[in-house]
Amino acid sequence: MRVMLTGGRGQLGIDLARVLKESHEIIALDKEQLNVCDASAVVTKMQEVSPDIVIHTAAFTKVDEAEQQPVRAFHTNAMGSRNIAIAAELYHAKLIYVSTDYVFDGKKGLPYNETDDPNPINVYGISKYAGELFIQSIHKQAFIVRTSWLYGGDVCNHFVRKIMQAAKQSKMIKVVTDEIGSPTYTYDLAEFINRLMVTEQYGIYHATNQGACSRYEFAIAVLQESALDDVTVLPITTDLFRLPALRPKYSILDHQAIRSQGLVDLPPWRDALTRYMKGW
Ligand SMILES: NC(=O)c1ccc[n+]([C@@H]2O[C@H](COP(=O)([O-])OP(=O)(O)OC[C@H]3O[C@@H](n4cnc5c(N)ncnc54)[C@H](OP(=O)(O)O)[C@@H]3O)[C@@H](O)[C@H]2O)c1
Repeated sequence: MRVMLTGGRGQLGIDLARVLKESHEIIALDKEQLNVCDASAVVTKMQEVSPDIVIHTAAFTKVDEAEQQPVRAFHTNAMGSRNIAIAAELYHAKLIYVSTDYVFDGKKGLPYNETDDPNPINVYGISKYAGELFIQSIHKQAFIVRTSWLYGGDVCNHFVRKIMQAAKQSKMIKVVTDEIGSPTYTYDLAEFINRLMVTEQYGIYHATNQGACSRYEFAIAVLQESALDDVTVLPITTDLFRLPALRPKYSILDHQAIRSQGLVDLPPWRDALTRYMKGW
C-alpha cells in the first residue's frame, strides 16, 4: 500500500515509518513538508501523493502548553484532523487517526471500552476528541486508534527518558502514585497499526500495551531496566505536584474492539519496556 504519514518526525511517526517500510511504500511528512492546519496545502499534498491510506499522527501533544494555547491546540488537533479527513475522503484514501486516553475523565474506576462516552478534562483532550468527531462525521472508511503513555521513536521528551535523565542528576526523584494507565511502546503500536490498516474493520480501537501501572511503578521499572536502581523513587500524589493541565487519574483502555474483531493484541507493557531499553 502507498501510505501517507503525518507527524513523520514524532515519536510514533518515526516507529511507524520504521515498521511499515518493510512491506509498504511510505511517504512520511513532517510539519515543514505538510502543516495540517493549512487546508489547501493538505488537499494539494493528498492529490500529489495519492495514498491508499493516510495515518494521521500529527498533533499538538504538549498537554500543559495546550492549556495556555487552546487556539493552537484546536487549530492543530481538531481543524487539522478535519482537513485531513476531508482530503482523504475526497481522494478515496482510507484513514487512521491516532487519538488518546485523555478523551476520558478517569472517573469510571474500571477500564474504558470503545463505547464509553468521552468526557475530556483538559484542553488537549477536548481538542483530540473534537478531532475524533470530525473524522467520524466526514470519513466513511476511518479507524480511530486511542492509545496512551507513548514512549519510543528516538525522541528525548517522553517519560522513560525523562526519568532516566532525572535519575542521573539526583539520587532521589518524586513520582506520582495516583495516575494509573498503560505505558505503550510506539514500536508495538506501529506493529498493531500495520495489522489493522490492511483490514476494512473500521471504527474505534483501544490499543495500548497490555496491563497497567501507576506513574510511580512505571518509573521504578524504568530504573530497574537501566541499572539505575540505587536511585530512590519517592511516592507522591498529584495534589503535591500541580501541573497546568488536569490529567485523568485512571485511564486504562479495555481492548474490546481488538478482541471482537479477532485481531492480535499488543504485548504486555513490562515486556515492551525491556525490549525498548535493550534497543538503544
Ligand atoms: N505521547 C503520548 O503519550 C500520546 C498518548 C496518547 C495519544 N497520543 C497521540 O498519538 C499521536 C502521536 O503522538 P506522539 O507522541 O508521536 O507525538 P509527537 O512526538 O509530539 O509528534 C507529533 C508530531 O506532530 C507534529 N506537528 C505538530 N503540529 C503540526 C502541524 N500543524 N502540522 C503537521 N505536523 C505537526 C510535531 O511537529 P513539531 O514537534 O515540530 O511541532 C511532531 O513531529 C498524536 O496524535 C497524539 O495525540 C500520544
